[in-house]
Amino acid sequence: MMEAMIDDAKMAAGRKAVQFIKNGMIVGLGSGSTAECFIQALIDSDRKIQAVASSRASADLAKRGGIEVLDINTVPRIDITVDGADEIDPQNRMIKGGGGAHVREKILASASDELIIVVDNTKLVPSIGTRKLPIEVMFYGSPATRMKIERTGHQGQWRLNPDGTLFITENGNLLFDMHFSSPPKAPEHIHDALLHIPGVVDTGFFFNMAKRVIIGYPNGKTEIR
Ligand code: A5P
Repeated sequence: MMEAMIDDAKMAAGRKAVQFIKNGMIVGLGSGSTAECFIQALIDSDRKIQAVASSRASADLAKRGGIEVLDINTVPRIDITVDGADEIDPQNRMIKGGGGAHVREKILASASDELIIVVDNTKLVPSIGTRKLPIEVMFYGSPATRMKIERTGHQGQWRLNPDGTLFITENGNLLFDMHFSSPPKAPEHIHDALLHIPGVVDTGFFFNMAKRVIIGYPNGKTEIR
């Protein structure tokens, strides 16, 4: 699909999500281009809310639009978080972290009474694992951690910046992007095995978190499931 059509679909999903935001709420802001469509629509809506952000980019966009962004370390619970996804299956299992912010996104999602996922229709897959799984790894001991990760049976590589240097997350960690030769039958088992490896902070798998998914289409229509 053409880039401009995908942008229309993302905008449709982002705009639709604003209808679930009420004045007085604390709103978790996800990261990535679709979450940014939501943030822009939220700014345009003039809702009186406070926010917490999963990345510097999302915090900066919100603040520029006049939204008060709270320090996450002063906020024990969030009313609602709106975030994107890299792929999502019919059971709402997701892979996130294409932008490298999935650990903070998961912390916001799990502190929220509700998580709304906004995606364009290209993100829908029959089974997750067609794209890479980002795994956040502490720099300390990372070669040993990588060896244990790859012993689970899947190879990958450290994420790099365009200039070839190592990508470092906002938490100061590395990202290992794992490849699947075909979508795994039981991603939950892979997630559990990876979480048991010392040095692994978290994976980009999100299970049982999305209460509502808003799918945007290039013609501007949306579907909620
Ligand atoms: C950011 O780390 C990711 O989890 C994003 O939610 C994901 O990459 C979706 O981004 P887009 O909306 O830009 O596709």
